[in-house]
This record gives sequence, C-alpha cells and structure tokens, in this order.
Amino acid sequence: MGQSVESAVVERMVAIRRDLHRYPELSWQEFQTAERISAALHELEIPQRRLMGTGVVADLPGGDGLAAVALRADIDALPIQEETGLPFASANDGVMHACGHDGHTSILLGAAELLTREGDLPAPVRLIFQPAEEKGAGAKALMEAGVLENVAIAFAGHLDRHFSTGILVVTDGAVSASTDHFKICVTGQGGHAARPHETIDAVVVGSLIVTAIQTIVSREIDPTHPSIVTVGRFEAGKVPNVIAGQAELEGTIRAQDPQVREHLKKSIRRMAESIGQLHQAGLEVEITDGTPPVINTPNATALARRAAVEVVGEEHVRTLGRANMGGEDFAYYLAEIPGCYIRFGARPPGSSGFAAHSSRFDFDEAALPIGAAWMAEVARRAGAALKNGDLEVSDTFERVSGVVP
Ligand code: NI
Repeated sequence: MGQSVESAVVERMVAIRRDLHRYPELSWQEFQTAERISAALHELEIPQRRLMGTGVVADLPGGDGLAAVALRADIDALPIQEETGLPFASANDGVMHACGHDGHTSILLGAAELLTREGDLPAPVRLIFQPAEEKGAGAKALMEAGVLENVAIAFAGHLDRHFSTGILVVTDGAVSASTDHFKICVTGQGGHAARPHETIDAVVVGSLIVTAIQTIVSREIDPTHPSIVTVGRFEAGKVPNVIAGQAELEGTIRAQDPQVREHLKKSIRRMAESIGQLHQAGLEVEITDGTPPVINTPNATALARRAAVEVVGEEHVRTLGRANMGGEDFAYYLAEIPGCYIRFGARPPGSSGFAAHSSRFDFDEAALPIGAAWMAEVARRAGAALKNGDLEVSDTFERVSGVVP
C-alpha cells in the first residue's frame, strides 16, 4: 500500500467509530452524534457550524479565493435491533448503525486530522457531516441551507463488505439508482363471497396490477439498462368469505437512467389505470419522487481513481462491474456539482459478512484508515487541480443528460 496512517490516528478513529456505534441515533435525531463530531473537530481546532440542527459543517482553509473541495460523511443510524453481539453493540434499543455510517463519520474525522496536520492546502476543504441519509432527506435539506455554497466538487464513499479490505472501488457514471415510491389504491365493490357477480373484487384487480407492472421491466425497458419495479405491500380484505372492496399496493421504482426512470413511472400509472377501467374499479396512483441516481462525473472520477491508486496501489483499485440498485442521497449534490462516490472494501476477515441494513451487519475496521487516507488524498488532488485551473468548474460538469455509460 502506498500510504499508511499512523497508529495514534487509527486508534482515535476506531475509538470514535465504536463510541458512535454504541450510541446510534435515527435520522434527524443525531444530536449526541453531532456533539461527538463537534468535540472531535474542536480537539483538532477546526472551526465548525451546525446546519439543520444535527448537520455539522467544518471548513479547512486553503487557496485564497478558491471554491472548496467537499468531503461528505453520513451520520445517521437505522431502526433495527442489533444482533451482532459486539462488545460495543448498540445501547439504544431498536436503533443500530447497520449501514456503516459510524465508520463513514470516523473516516471523515480521520481525513480531517490528516489534512489539518499538513496545513497549506491548495484549496479549501469543506467537511460535511450529513444527517438523515437513510431517509434520503439530509442532503437536500443541507443544500437548501447552503452547504454547497462556494463548493466546486464533492467526494464521498461507502464501506462495502462485497470487497475485501484494502480495495477501493472507483466507477465512472451511475453508481446507485433512483428510488421512487408508488402507492395504488383500488376501489371496487365489496360483497358476499358467494355472490361475486354483485361485486367488483379489489383483490382480483390488485393482483392483475401486480402481474401487469412486472412486465414493464421485462418487456418495455432496454435490458442493458438496469431497473426494478417491486410491490412490497399489498393489503386487501379482512375475512375469507367476503369479497374485498378495497386494495392498497405500495412499492419502489429504481433506475439508473433518468429516461428509464420516467418511463417506469408512466407505465405503472398507465397499466394500473387501464386495469381499473377494464374492471370498472376506481383507481388512484400516487408516485412520490425519491433520490435521483448518483452519477459520478468523469473528471472527479479520474481524480478519485488517481487518489485511490496512490493510497492502495493500482492492483487494489476496482470498478463496480455491475449495477448497484441501492439509493443514496449524495445524488442530490452531484445533480448540482461534479463529484465522485466510491466504495471502501471492508469485508470482515474470515467471513462474507452480513448485508447492510441487517441486524448482524459489521465491517472491518482496518478499512477506516484506508478510507481516511483516500479522502485526504482526493481532497489534496482536487484542490491542486482547482488551484492550477485544471478543473474549471464550468468545464468539468456536464449536467446529467440521461445517458448512462
Ligand atoms: Ni449507507
């Protein structure tokens, strides 16, 4: 490996991670977490401010008059009862850091320490400790509060048990999916199970909708463009001998290409409404937009890759290789400015690990200093590019065009 982080810094990172892990807090309730972050920044003598209550933003000075390089960590936990049995397992009932955001926070604090030590940064660095990623809401709220003012480019990453520790995964283009939500309400006519001709059966209508909308991805979307339509909830009826008059279906729509995203939404509406008409049932379709896909921009990705090669060596830098259909609200930043979102290999040694958002999720802490070294390195490189004018903001950013590489 090209760089190593000194052991005192690693120890502090592990201690903070474990402390955050022990006291996880849900989206928008990260008060103790924000206090912990503030205290760590205070120790490093980094000036800071709060945004939206639990967001912590800190600026490292550098390169007079230049726009900043932003580094972002998400800080919130999930409503899951932890079952890892770790000595620092959650002390907060029903709340768990099951997505590694405790690690992300520790990584950004580690990067802050590495960058502060150096002094004389080529461009300012803005550290963003962002609440409410799990709700897909924190990024947008912080942006509305001005977190990207005077920021030229942004970087972030996620711990990932699919890759072993020491691997950094840097991918051009789309690296997460849009996550929209739909709700379909079917209003039929309830009645006696023995007199179906007097009813409009909402279970039958709802079932046809479930089956029909499954054909959107398989028959309407280019198979080389990954997309998903999932019905996660279908409720209708109360008793076996009564035909249900009402049904409710809810689900998620995912895509990496903005045009595919629009297509999926339109087709769900068209098919559901047509089936309603076919069976004379009342039909309401409600679609709520979630996060857009994260689309890494080419120049930022090139910087991210060079930083990764510097930190772990060429042979340990990978690309995703297959579509990731998860959601991530870092997407909102990249809809405004160029940037890159990478993955830190963090598979627990000797196991394949448990999925993020599982009650037994854990990651390899040896990934923390690697993440911190990458963040510091990419901040330096992006800062130098800004300073040398190699990264004119207007040149680097091509607004999301709907083209998936
Ligand atoms: Ni996450």
